[in-house]
Amino acid sequence: MGQLARVLVMLVFVAGAGLWAATWWREQANPPSAVGVAVPGGVEIGGKFSLVAADGHTVTEADFRGRFMLVYFGYTFCPDVCPTELQAVAASLALLGDQAAKVAPIFITIDPERDTPKAMGEYTKLFDDRLIGLTGSAVQIAQVAKAYRAYYARVEPKAGGTYLMDHSSFLYLIGPDGKFRALVKPGSTPEEIAALLRAQFAHS
Ligand code: NI
Repeated sequence: MGQLARVLVMLVFVAGAGLWAATWWREQANPPSAVGVAVPGGVEIGGKFSLVAADGHTVTEADFRGRFMLVYFGYTFCPDVCPTELQAVAASLALLGDQAAKVAPIFITIDPERDTPKAMGEYTKLFDDRLIGLTGSAVQIAQVAKAYRAYYARVEPKAGGTYLMDHSSFLYLIGPDGKFRALVKPGSTPEEIAALLRAQFAHS
């Protein structure tokens, strides 16, 4: 092998090692997730809110600083989607064991007209004592939903009866620093949610 050939082989080897190292580093910094939904660059999610807890006290995002917030928007009269998602959240907390203490699971109503603080408290207990139900005025709810880019709309019944709420169904993961971390797709399993949280704990 001539001198030039040896240099070329060496260069290919070095470039390959560099590529491998870069890929490895990227995966460590941004662990792959089966449940994450890509958010377009420049789209901000989360931020400040002021809401009302089940005991009537005012709660803001600052109360959860230092813990992860796993936020879901829905309503207690929801016939199917909300109970399914909240059950998945509760089951993911069980899978995390002691590490669940790092997470504040939060359920924010998009139906404040019917979801009083008391109603929220009774409903969240059905899933997990740690689940924090938050409501507020129509304006407070509109503000937090806008900040999280959550969609909701009232659907009037055709003939009497009670109305339903149409709503988006994502889980939002906010870091201990208050910054948005991940958007979790609807229908994710407890195992998938727990895996995402563990990966985030390891990189926080
Ligand atoms: Ni729902």
